[in-house]
Amino acid sequence: MPINFTGQSKLHVAVIMDGNGRWATERGLPRIAGHQAGSESLRRVVRAAPELGVSTLTAYAFSCDNWKRPAEEVDAIMALLAWYLADEIPRLLEDRVRLSVIGRRDRLPEALVAVIHQAESATSGCDKLHLRLAIDYSGRESILTATGQCAGRDVTMERFEQILAATNRGGAQPVDLLVRTGGEQRLSDFLLWECAYAELVFTRRMWPEFTGQDLTKAIHDFRRRERRFGDVPAALANRPDTHSRERWLH
Ligand code: FPP
Repeated sequence: MPINFTGQSKLHVAVIMDGNGRWATERGLPRIAGHQAGSESLRRVVRAAPELGVSTLTAYAFSCDNWKRPAEEVDAIMALLAWYLADEIPRLLEDRVRLSVIGRRDRLPEALVAVIHQAESATSGCDKLHLRLAIDYSGRESILTATGQCAGRDVTMERFEQILAATNRGGAQPVDLLVRTGGEQRLSDFLLWECAYAELVFTRRMWPEFTGQDLTKAIHDFRRRERRFGDVPAALANRPDTHSRERWLH
């Protein structure tokens, strides 16, 4: 039965899709089979997200540090990403999902860059969910690049967020909930600015086994938490919980 999240929509959820390699190795499969299965998990999660009040979903597909992996695995991931994006366009259009890719493009294979452009322009008018795939992405690098564009000017947090959004190409909305699968408990250079006040959920579940139900569970957990953004609990302050991004920014 769908859960009613009326009045609690527009969540930005970020996912670190970890555990593909271990999932495959445990089954005697090559690691790329884990990434392939991981792409199917992402498809399930994208389908489940809008009903759960998620308006933006950012998924970490390949970090700047992932280039250190064996060339064979890197090549296979690049090919899988290109295949996934090309294959996904009709489904994204059907589900009204806008796709953006954040991260560097200058080191990606040409065929992948071409399909990224194709998917982004085909889905640019979609409004049900904004899916952002982070490819060749580093949180530190995006902050550094945005800082370079401030050119000694005195910028506000809001202005910096706009510059970072342009640097990322797909925006820089604050993350409400970050989910990491695979049992590790770290950020691994993902959305460092955007996660300033994110709630963190870590699960031992390997990404290829992650389902829409797991996302529902994580969002339930998130809903039970009080976000204070540095303030005192609402009960102590004797006022309704009015914490919001706007309040934090102004
Ligand atoms: C993390 O698992 C996965 C990656 C760094 C690879 C990228 C993710 C995918 C390819 C899944 C989504 C796919 C598409 C096409 C969007 P890991 O390899 O670090 O796993 P391990 O920690 O068990 O070794």
